[in-house]
Order: sequence, then structure tokens, then C-alpha cells
Amino acid sequence: MSKLLVCGGAGFIGSTFVRQRLLEHGDEVTVLDKLTYAGREENLKDLADHASFRFRRGAIEDPAAVSGAIEASSCEAILNFAAETHVDRSIAEPDAFVKTHALGTYVLLEAARAQSLRYLQVSTDEVYGSIDVGTFTEESPLKPSSPYSATKTGADLLVQSYVHTYGLSAVICRGSNNYGPYQHPEKLIPLMVLNALHGDPLPVYGDGLQTRNWIHCTDFARAIGHVLEHGQDGEVYNAGGPDEETNLEVVNRIIELTGSDSRVEHVIDRPGHDRRYSLSSEKVRALGWSPRVRFGEGLSETVDWYRDNAWWWEPIRSGEYRAYYERQYGRSLA
Ligand code: NAD
Ligand code: DAU
Repeated sequence: MSKLLVCGGAGFIGSTFVRQRLLEHGDEVTVLDKLTYAGREENLKDLADHASFRFRRGAIEDPAAVSGAIEASSCEAILNFAAETHVDRSIAEPDAFVKTHALGTYVLLEAARAQSLRYLQVSTDEVYGSIDVGTFTEESPLKPSSPYSATKTGADLLVQSYVHTYGLSAVICRGSNNYGPYQHPEKLIPLMVLNALHGDPLPVYGDGLQTRNWIHCTDFARAIGHVLEHGQDGEVYNAGGPDEETNLEVVNRIIELTGSDSRVEHVIDRPGHDRRYSLSSEKVRALGWSPRVRFGEGLSETVDWYRDNAWWWEPIRSGEYRAYYERQYGRSLA
């Protein structure tokens, strides 16, 4: 049993990780989360009364909030899921990305260094940029293309500098595109599922032939736990999903699964859009992890979850998200 401080634990993957660690590993978990538009206590609703769970609202760039959370939790490790995560928002308004990824990661690293805590940085395949053929390994050059991925790359480099310079016990785990329950509807899969359920058009950027390497959020969360427990200091571990699909393939599967009459609408492409992501996971597989959920099965369960959990997405789809959608897509939701 471990005591963990999970920063960004009210988000999509963070809340999945918290659920796993509380229910499957018997850890004590404290979440520190700023509750941005993407962070929601509803994501942790089923865990709120768990005896080993605590929630604290606070920003990772706030040293007092971080030291208060470390002290109150007596944690042995800090995991940093906290981030601004939507590429389109990073193109429209990059400032929060710089602040959270650069300053926030720095504050957490300083706190981990001061208390000699283990540190895990949650990162992304987007740090490697786009790859037409083949697959990225941990040795691939870093070539991020958006303000989101560039600031995530900067955070990774800062983590590695703390291992090299101060001997911090830190590891980095880079995931490919996650999907599953509790993902904010700004992202491709929940956006398309909810639009399909409401009869809204399905806005596919450009030709829709961009390829993503899909991993179920429970598989990525298990990889993160595995790297925390077995990863070597200073090492990076990629965790890629078992399946690659073009965006059009994904959207057509969603149309089929929802039985919707919604139509694909090709809209103006994302500036600097990465064509393909693909991650080799050999290194983390050698530690004993492998993905369990294939995309076909995982997507079908995910569609069912959104269909059955209107309580979760209705407040989002009727709130600020509508204004975001109009700004991003130039039209309103039904
Ligand atoms: P998300 O947007 O659902 O959640 C992010 C969480 O971080 C939210 O709860 C938000 O309130 C919190 N947060 C944001 N800024 C904060 C700050 N300054 N201080 C404290 N909390 C803050 O994100 P997600 O999809 O769950 O991603 C989690 C992590 O995994 C991120 O680091 C992301 O880069 C990485 N990642 C995501 C994917 C993916 O496909 N979603 C894939 C690989 C890696
Ligand atoms: O690869 C890991 C990354 O995956 C994470 O680090 C990011 O946090 C996460 O947001 C995700 O980034 P993507 O940009 O790949 O995900 P998104 O869901 O925004 O888009 C997936 C693909 O679908 C991408 O090629 C853009 C396309 N797309 C997306 C939206 C929202 C569309 O065609 N239409 C859309 O409306």
C-alpha cells in the first residue's frame, strides 16, 4: 500500500487512475486539482466517501497549495496528470499551457526534491511529433508541433534535468490517444458520440485520414501505476494502444454503434495537424505491462457509457462548452 498525491486527478485519465489505485491496489490517494473547465468532482463521485480518498482544490503552480497537499497526505509519491490537454485550445489560447506545464511542473519538482519523493510525469506521444511510417520508441527525437505538445515536451525535459542534476527519483510515462468514460466532449470520440446521439453533424478535420493509436484509459492508467512501481529513475516509458485507426474509421464506427442519422461534415483542418501517431511499448512491456482492451470492444462500451450517463455530460453540453463549440466550429449544437 502506498500514499499517493495525484495532481490533476479530477480529469479523465487521472480519475481513472485514482479509481484503480483505491479499489484495486488499496492505496491512500489525495487528489490536488485546480478544477479547470476539464476537471470535475463528478468524475470522482463514486469515490468521494472512500475512507482512503481525499480531495483538495488547488493549482500545481501554487507552491503553498502543493506543500499543503504534501503535508496533509504524507505522500510517498507525486504523480502529475495536471495539464491543459486540448490541442485546439492550445492553438487558440496557449498561455495556460505554458503556465501549467512549465511553472506547474517546476513547482511540483521542487516540492518532490525538497521531500525526496518519487515523482511520475504523465506525458504524451505528441512530444515525438508525427510519423508517416513505423513507430516511435523512447529514443526517437523530440519534435513537438503544437503549443500543447511543445509545452509538454518542455515539462519532460525539466523532469529529466532534475534526475540528472539533483538525483530525483523520477520517471516519465508517455501515452497514445486515450478513450473511455469521463472524457471531456471536446475530444474526438466523446464529441462524435454526443453529436451522433443528438443528430448534430460530425465535424471531421480535413480529409479525416489522420491516424491515431488508441489506448483505453484503464490500460494507460495501469501502465502509469506499473511505471511508478517498476520504472527506473530517469527513464521514459511509452505506453501505446493495440490499435491504429484513421479518424474517419473511428467516426464511421460511432455512426454504426449509435445508429445515428448524423452526417460527416468535412471542416477546415487543424493548423499544423499531426498526420499520424504510433508508439512502440516494448520497454514497458518488458516490465510486465500489456494493454487488455482492443479498440472495437472498448469503443462499443464507451458509446454505451455515454448513452447511459446523461447525468455526467448534460451539464457540460448545456454550459460553457456550447460557447466553445460555436467559437471552434462556427455553428451551434442542437
Ligand atoms: P483532462 O483535461 O481530462 O484533465 C486534466 C486535469 O488537470 C483536470 O482535472 C484539470 O482540472 C487539472 N488541471 C489543469 N491545470 C491544472 C493546474 N494548473 N493545477 C492543478 N490541476 C490542473 O486531461 P486527461 O486527458 O485526463 O490527461 C491527463 C494527462 O495525461 C495530461 O498530462 C495529458 O497530457 C496526458 N495524456 C493525455 C492523453 C489523452 O489522450 N487524453 C494521452 C496521453 C497523455
Ligand atoms: O496522442 C495523445 C494526445 O491525444 C493527448 O496528449 C492529448 O491530450 C489528447 O487531446 C489527444 O490529442 P489529439 O489532438 O490526437 O486528440 P483529439 O481528440 O483532439 O483529436 C483526435 C483526432 O481527431 C485528431 O486528428 C483531430 C481530429 N478531430 C478532432 C476533433 C475534436 C476531428 O477531426 N474533429 C474534431 O472535432
